[in-house]
Amino acid sequence: MTDSLEDNRAPKVQASGLSRRAFVRYGAASVGVAAVGGGIAAMANRPALSPRQQGLPTIPDWTATDIPSLRGRSALVTGGNGYPVDDRSGLGFHDALELARAGADVTIASRKQERGEEAVRRIKASVPGASIRFEALDLSNLASVAEFAERMRASRGSLDILVNNAGVMGRKSREVSADGFERVFATNTLGHFALTARLLPLLRKGNSPRIVWVSSSRALMGAINFADLQLAQDYDYGAAYDNSKLANLMLAFEMQRRSAAEGWGISAIAAHPGIARTNLVPDGPGPDSLEGRNHRYMPFLFQPPAQGALPTLYAATSPQAVAGGYYGPNGFLGLGGLPGWAGIPEKADDQKTAARLWGTVEQLGGVTFGRTA
Ligand SMILES: NC(=O)c1ccc[n+]([C@@H]2O[C@H](COP(=O)([O-])OP(=O)(O)OC[C@H]3O[C@@H](n4cnc5c(N)ncnc54)[C@H](OP(=O)(O)O)[C@@H]3O)[C@@H](O)[C@H]2O)c1
Repeated sequence: MTDSLEDNRAPKVQASGLSRRAFVRYGAASVGVAAVGGGIAAMANRPALSPRQQGLPTIPDWTATDIPSLRGRSALVTGGNGYPVDDRSGLGFHDALELARAGADVTIASRKQERGEEAVRRIKASVPGASIRFEALDLSNLASVAEFAERMRASRGSLDILVNNAGVMGRKSREVSADGFERVFATNTLGHFALTARLLPLLRKGNSPRIVWVSSSRALMGAINFADLQLAQDYDYGAAYDNSKLANLMLAFEMQRRSAAEGWGISAIAAHPGIARTNLVPDGPGPDSLEGRNHRYMPFLFQPPAQGALPTLYAATSPQAVAGGYYGPNGFLGLGGLPGWAGIPEKADDQKTAARLWGTVEQLGGVTFGRTA
């Protein structure tokens, strides 16, 4: 791990002048180019990234074969059970597969036990001798998060890598979690934040511990509106997702700042996969949504999930990954390709809003970083 990104200059992305809804209309008129996780029109707004110009070292071609040995290290991947079904496989499955292949002791955690066990079976079939298990976890339920963290803490002394990967897209109508929070915010942001807080004691005892937050290029279209964080007054399925991914990015950067200031010894890093064919859209807004039509009519835009997982794997394992960094695919518009620097939306670096968001999610999640039992 090199020095914190604070020591470098990060490429910045100017926020799109379009509101999210205007963007969706624009996207629809443009043959639905607003792809899931990609926000293609938004990406088209980003300046061409030139790491060299920005004073950042270029990232050489990097694939899963470059993952260093992880023997003796432990990893937890949320949402690692998306094994290939109907030509779609979740990104977390590939994170877990490659971490296990490199020798890590891997836990995958999410809701569906049967799929989790099938993912474990498939990974063991690909990697004989893999050390991998499935644990039940519902991130949208704070009691489940607390129980899961308690089980982890009872069964191990430390944790080296936490990949906050699981995620959902909004559905057409607003849904609320068991705790009464808007479902996308509850799953993508609040659940992961509470989980990370509760696992902090394990992570602090880890070997060069890292926390990777999976965001999306659609964070560029997100907004943090404290007056309606739950979108109770004005629900929009795309906004729910974009806001949660912006929140994750801001929390990742804030986490790194706090870790450095308070000496946690943990690196927080963010990554996004570009766009990849997974279960995110079918399980979210569905086939008739703009995103669903993109799946049907523009399959060429979607990269294989195994490649979409690479920026996350780079952030989780590369000795060159930078604390506080943000990685994504280096190809056309950042939609696909090998890991490179991802542009950071200017609003994601708003430290005042990030600090307020941190306090808000601590309160909503019933956790206090560094002091949560
Ligand atoms: N695919 C893309 O193009 C794209 C683009 C940008 C960002 N991303 C991000 O990549 C991450 C992985 O998504 P994916 O594309 O691989 O989607 P996916 O195939 O739908 O996988 C989502 C995973 O999240 C888990 N999950 C959902 N709700 C959960 C909950 N309440 N508690 C615990 N686990 C839960 C699911 O497992 P269970 O159903 O068993 O709970 C599943 O393993 C997400 O954070 C997504 O936002 C994806």
